Amino acid sequence: MNYRHSFHAGNSADVVKHSLLIALVRALQLKDSALTLIDTHAGCGLYDLHGEEAGRTGEAAQGVVRAFADANPLLDDYRAAVRAVNAGEELRLYPGSPRFLAQLLRAQDVLVLNEKHPEDAYALRGAMRGTAAAVHERDAYELWLALLPTRTPRGVVVVDPPYEQTDERARIVATLAAAHRKWAHGVTVIWYPLKDRHTHVRWKEQLCRLGIAKILNVEHWLYDSYQPGIYNGAGLFFVNPPYAFTQDLPPMLEALRAALAPEGHRGEITGEWLG
Ligand SMILES: C[S@@+](CC[C@H](N)C(=O)[O-])C[C@H]1O[C@@H](n2cnc3c(N)ncnc32)[C@H](O)[C@@H]1O
Repeated sequence: MNYRHSFHAGNSADVVKHSLLIALVRALQLKDSALTLIDTHAGCGLYDLHGEEAGRTGEAAQGVVRAFADANPLLDDYRAAVRAVNAGEELRLYPGSPRFLAQLLRAQDVLVLNEKHPEDAYALRGAMRGTAAAVHERDAYELWLALLPTRTPRGVVVVDPPYEQTDERARIVATLAAAHRKWAHGVTVIWYPLKDRHTHVRWKEQLCRLGIAKILNVEHWLYDSYQPGIYNGAGLFFVNPPYAFTQDLPPMLEALRAALAPEGHRGEITGEWLG
């Protein structure tokens, strides 16, 4: 496990992923019944944008910094959640998905975090001190299945792997299939990078073959044409997203596209049902 999210925290993929996670959880919280939020690949929880790793890539400049330079009120919730971990006006710390999710918890909700890398798990425990989150240090796919069905009536599983293992997509397909058999109504969010088009198209076909009725696919393409061999953006699968989330999605996606468009490119964000 070589991937460290501290090099990438606050990049454009984080802005899209974290903005949509906030919107999804808020939509589910329109109902009072308790939610269990399970973050299978949690990372460190909190990142220093002025630290050595973030400084080496400078990726936040194309992500959270652009989102803060934008005035669209549809990104206000996202910006407020980032501000909440920073003292004053300076944008120095960036919350990982665990800290975004922790901010959304109501008294009845449960937050379960998991991170396998020992150093990141240690950092995660520190970042979550004082919150109600439970932190595990297990294999994501083992934990994902072991915790289903959730003890609360409803739940969300967030799956955000680094894709450094060649079998990552195959493990996701197999675990999602098994999870769906145990917990057919559950909500699952799966993040992925858009790199090789062929890999990506084949993976979507495999997910379609699972026969899960409701999978919404959001894709953020950074450039105006496909750039072979490099990172082209990122996507998310939302299994069983609530209507309150999907109905408000088009203007939110347009706000994210406009805020994150790289110099000289319009970019594109699509939201389509699989199948
Ligand atoms: C993309 S990062 C997570 C970022 C985080 N979800 C966020 O949005 O702030 C992926 C994390 O998964 C961890 N990881 C990789 N393989 C894992 C596995 N099999 N089980 C649990 N964690 C794993 C990595 O150490 C890394 O910290």
